Amino acid sequence: MRRPFVAGNWKMNMLADSSAQLAGELADKLPEGNVEVAVCPPFVYLTTVGNVIKQSKIKLGAQNVYFEPKGAFTGEISTAMLKDVGCEYVIIGHSERRHIFGESDELINAKVKSAIEAELKPILCVGEKLDQRDAGQTEKVIETQLAGGLVGLSADSLKNLVIAYEPVWAIGTGRTATPDQAQEVHQFIRSWLSGKFGDDFAENCVIQYGGSVKPGNAESLMSQADVDGALVGGASLKADDFIKIIGAAIKAKSA
Ligand code: PGA
Repeated sequence: MRRPFVAGNWKMNMLADSSAQLAGELADKLPEGNVEVAVCPPFVYLTTVGNVIKQSKIKLGAQNVYFEPKGAFTGEISTAMLKDVGCEYVIIGHSERRHIFGESDELINAKVKSAIEAELKPILCVGEKLDQRDAGQTEKVIETQLAGGLVGLSADSLKNLVIAYEPVWAIGTGRTATPDQAQEVHQFIRSWLSGKFGDDFAENCVIQYGGSVKPGNAESLMSQADVDGALVGGASLKADDFIKIIGAAIKAKSA
């Protein structure tokens, strides 16, 4: 059975005080139920947020990582550093990393490998741009990103892999994939995983949806059979909205 998983990607938002306050509210209001919850604040607030959520069930994640273990890589952060400050998860290959910072599938693959070696759980993001969807290339793009991001990795080593399907045209735009559109791609991802790593692997792999997930659409998206949770940007910055989305995951998956 896949456990629903809701993660908040705070992106480049918040300061120390607001991070601590948001984390505190989430810890206080976290609903009981069968759901995994993580927050991914900016690197510089990982420790602050980690201290606030320590006594709660909320897990800590980072938004990025570099694949080299240490050395002269000015401005980068290693897997050991993330572990050291209490991270369990790391987002890898977010579309903003791919499209603003030019990250390639090869670089993303190196990051996934280093996360796995360090026993960090990677949240590998995949998703097509609007022109690619309009040109009927969605599946091809997703397949290339999955194959490229997971090169050289075995089913056994990937048991903690999480995939986030985030159509680029739905991120921060207020435009969400319909539940059917999301399900269609999630099903495609699961069947690709099954072909590559086997049925058991595919059945157990958590696939989140991301892109303008809000309290008002979360339940219908997560009610889809292959949508196992959400990676939430904007709405994760408001405690009440994020709590409602977590509640929606519990409800959608207990029905
Ligand atoms: P959004 O971002 O919820 O603000 O669209 C999602 C994401 O980029 O992870």
